Amino acid sequence: MASEEPLVAVTCTAPVNIAVIKYWGKRDEELILPINSSLSVTLHQDQLRTTTTAAVSKDFTEDRIWLNGREEDAGQPRLQACLQEIRRLAQERSSARDGAPPAPSLSYKVHVASANNFPTAAGLASSAAGFACLAYTLAQLYGVEGDLSEVARRGSGSACRSLHGGFAVWHMGECTDGKDSVARQVAPETHWPELRVLILVVSSEKKLTSSTAGMQTSVETSPLLRFRAEAVVPARLAEMTRCVRERDFEGFARLTMRDSNQFHATCLDTFPPISYLNDTSRRIIHLVHCFNAHHGATKVAYTFDAGPNAVIFTLDDTVAEFVAAVRHSFPPESNGDKFLQGLPVRPAPLSEELKAALAMEPAPGGIKYIIATQVGPGPQVLDDPHAHLLGPDGLPKPAA
Ligand code: DP6
Repeated sequence: MASEEPLVAVTCTAPVNIAVIKYWGKRDEELILPINSSLSVTLHQDQLRTTTTAAVSKDFTEDRIWLNGREEDAGQPRLQACLQEIRRLAQERSSARDGAPPAPSLSYKVHVASANNFPTAAGLASSAAGFACLAYTLAQLYGVEGDLSEVARRGSGSACRSLHGGFAVWHMGECTDGKDSVARQVAPETHWPELRVLILVVSSEKKLTSSTAGMQTSVETSPLLRFRAEAVVPARLAEMTRCVRERDFEGFARLTMRDSNQFHATCLDTFPPISYLNDTSRRIIHLVHCFNAHHGATKVAYTFDAGPNAVIFTLDDTVAEFVAAVRHSFPPESNGDKFLQGLPVRPAPLSEELKAALAMEPAPGGIKYIIATQVGPGPQVLDDPHAHLLGPDGLPKPAA
């Protein structure tokens, strides 16, 4: 039976972010409040993005959600926390807007469909893009303006940073209710046009220990993590903010590597220990240090999250040579033509001196593929109704 009142649907996209000062550890599990502030780079949505459609209709009988075409449990607490939070904000904020179209009823059930344009299991921070996209899309749907940190954060802590393009800081805050635990932009996506990002996909296997579980054990058992949060991060956050503002690549790169290393050190200091890096990750670390030593300057930086994939930061004039060094050290096994995805990178020769300086036996197939990208903008609304992932019946459109 056709509905008298058609459904109201909105579709938006949101980016992945990569922390250069890492978030690891909560002081409040329920509200997702961190034990330290963090700072991240937002990646470009041309290469990595989540697209989400949210729709409401009085005909919907329950909240439902589909991720990459598969229905998931809409009752999961973090999803429900986001929904509750946005409905609360909608009640608080939207009523006063003159001339705006009326927001759909808050009592209607919502359908959500979300899809990534990159492999979810590749360990590429899909939950951050996913919950930022959910928060942003629901806000559009209900006409909620202003800060959405709290909505995104309740889904996944790191998601609040994906609400901003460019460079974002998530202030840990002090309040017990989390009101001041918010993400803010440090600099927009146009701020540092030469900065490039390479994602070296090492493995697409699902990780053994989720971030949520891992950081909880770290908080309970690692004295190093406590030391890091209290004595190390505050100064690093100030220094990283300066490096970004002044586009000081060497400072940015060195601090990025040190902070990644310290995060993984706290994982090893956790009991039982957690190790997210594998042999290929460690070879990449070695490669970066050899490359920098050869140049006598910090030209490339690595960072690793809760998995073995490396994210590399460099400047546009160094990308081609570094990619050549990666190809030399990790010869592509089967998909030679698909090895490099994303932004084009011109082939570059590798000097015999650099080959010798890399000082390692090539490890064929260690890196599955590379995604070349850059700093990008925050969430976007897609105006084209064809972009909706849900059809007029409120169910996912069959994948094209
Ligand atoms: C290593 O945001 O995924 O990527 O808040 O429990 O959902 P939850 O954790 P999540 O943790 C991200 C950890 C990290 C570092 C970072 O992104 O800052």
